[in-house]
Amino acid sequence: MTSLRQNILALRKKKAIIEMGGGEAAIEKQVAMGKLTARECILALLDKDSFHEYDLFVEHDGRDFGMEKKVLPGDGVITGTGTILGAPVCIYAQDFTVAGGSLGLKHARKITKIMDHALKMKCPIIGINDSGGARIQEGVGALAGYGEIFYRNTIASGVIPQISLILGPCAGGAVYSPALTDFVFVVENISKMFITGPNVIKTVLGEDISMEDLGGARVHAEITGNAHFYAQSEPDCFAQIKKLISLIPGNNSQRAKKITPKEPTIKKNIEQIVPADPKQPYDVRDVIRCIADGSEFLEIQELWAANIVIGFGRMGGETVGFVANQPMVLAGVLDCDSSDKAARFIRFCDAFNIPIVTLEDMPGYLPGVDQEHAGVIRHGAKMLYAYSEATVPKITVILRKAYGGGYIAMNSRHLGADFMFAWPSAEIAVMGPEGAANIIFRKEIMEAEDQDAMRQEKVKEYIEKFANPYVAASKGFIDSVIEPKETRSLLLHALQVSALKGESRPQKKHGIPPF
Ligand code: HXC
Repeated sequence: MTSLRQNILALRKKKAIIEMGGGEAAIEKQVAMGKLTARECILALLDKDSFHEYDLFVEHDGRDFGMEKKVLPGDGVITGTGTILGAPVCIYAQDFTVAGGSLGLKHARKITKIMDHALKMKCPIIGINDSGGARIQEGVGALAGYGEIFYRNTIASGVIPQISLILGPCAGGAVYSPALTDFVFVVENISKMFITGPNVIKTVLGEDISMEDLGGARVHAEITGNAHFYAQSEPDCFAQIKKLISLIPGNNSQRAKKITPKEPTIKKNIEQIVPADPKQPYDVRDVIRCIADGSEFLEIQELWAANIVIGFGRMGGETVGFVANQPMVLAGVLDCDSSDKAARFIRFCDAFNIPIVTLEDMPGYLPGVDQEHAGVIRHGAKMLYAYSEATVPKITVILRKAYGGGYIAMNSRHLGADFMFAWPSAEIAVMGPEGAANIIFRKEIMEAEDQDAMRQEKVKEYIEKFANPYVAASKGFIDSVIEPKETRSLLLHALQVSALKGESRPQKKHGIPPF
């Protein structure tokens, strides 16, 4: 009879073999690519000694194409629980050294089991994706596995934060689960995401393209907007995730953890950031740094649709979501991509009890055939929907321009803003003074002897009449016209008095946003 000690030694041996994943040669290949192994990634991301693994002994049940003879340790995925900065998380990591991290039914079931656990325990789920997609030899079993993951991503959406890391080539189904999650992290030179890879493109379309050009980290951080955070290296990526986790709650019934408030540290004077000339650009992130605790701001989707800035900071020690037009890029206009970017972020903040501070300075929606044909009506409507739907505290500060549809869309009083502040430099009008004068005074300008002089005069008249915050304030659409230096203290006060805000909506199964 074997003793307990012998059984323990046998267990350790079994575990050690499985923990080697695809074996030394496959691991060496992984290391040569500058990557950590799946297990190393988990250990680097979680608090020291906090990881507990489950389902290590699960085996695949493929019986075709020689699979019956293949041993796939852990079926190519590691699952478990741990903590990040003391907060519990559920986690899985696909192991590319085992059949390319490809997803068979048992592999998928390990993932869905830990997802179910996360949803029950109400803690974030983190997925480290590194996979060639559906395991081709398993056929429909693999497709079923993906479907079961997507279903859970959707059910968990808005209940627990879902975070995806792309740490290798992710093809086919391997990219749709990340696309359904809240935050996608990519790493330079390592991350690749595509539906069909270069081989398929070559076969079907006869075109040659590298994996990097097709769906590398930069492509998704700058062009597609599929990635929310771009990191230079895996350690940089893990540091960013820790920062994010520190700023968001573990589930939708909690608020993010409050920490000791800090005064801003930025050296710039808030009154000198925004130029008086409404056509002069500036970096709105400096305004955010003037009002956020410690001048700290975690920007999201920094490289994509940069005409709008979104991200988390803290005010009075509590997490706040900032949405701000960026006059430095395209004058801060709203367009298809910036509307998509902001709308999704607003919905995240609303789902997870994070108040939203909106900073407004933009000339409206971007005109032009390209935007119209790209569906700016549908995309732009997402902003209207997201702000109107949100019931968390919503506060707006108009810094300078608030023209046309943009005035309404950027969390106006009319979409349910709780507090509306405007700097004295605010211009609230249907459109810019030049455009407005050219339309409403067209006849006078055409008939004038000196058309330019008349145009200038009418522009001035329009500016005096409408391009200021006082008309809107006289109608109660703006609550206070404030000095820039009062912004932080008024926002802190507004957030303090909104802390117990309660707002109900009519009973419905769900709305139908303009997806
Ligand atoms: C089974 C796979 C696999 C897959 C990779 N492998 N992808 N096995 N099913 N989908 C295996 C390879 O056979 C190889 O096994 C090992 O993983 C490493 O793969 P390599 O090709 O050597 O690695 P690399 O050169 O780095 O290329 C990685 C890759 C490439 C770009 C991901 O493997 C690839 O193009 N794979 C197929 C991608 C794809 O088209 N997937 C879509 C599946 S359909 P050995 O034994 O040689 O080490 C899908 C539909 C779901 O996902 C739709 C849901 C909506």
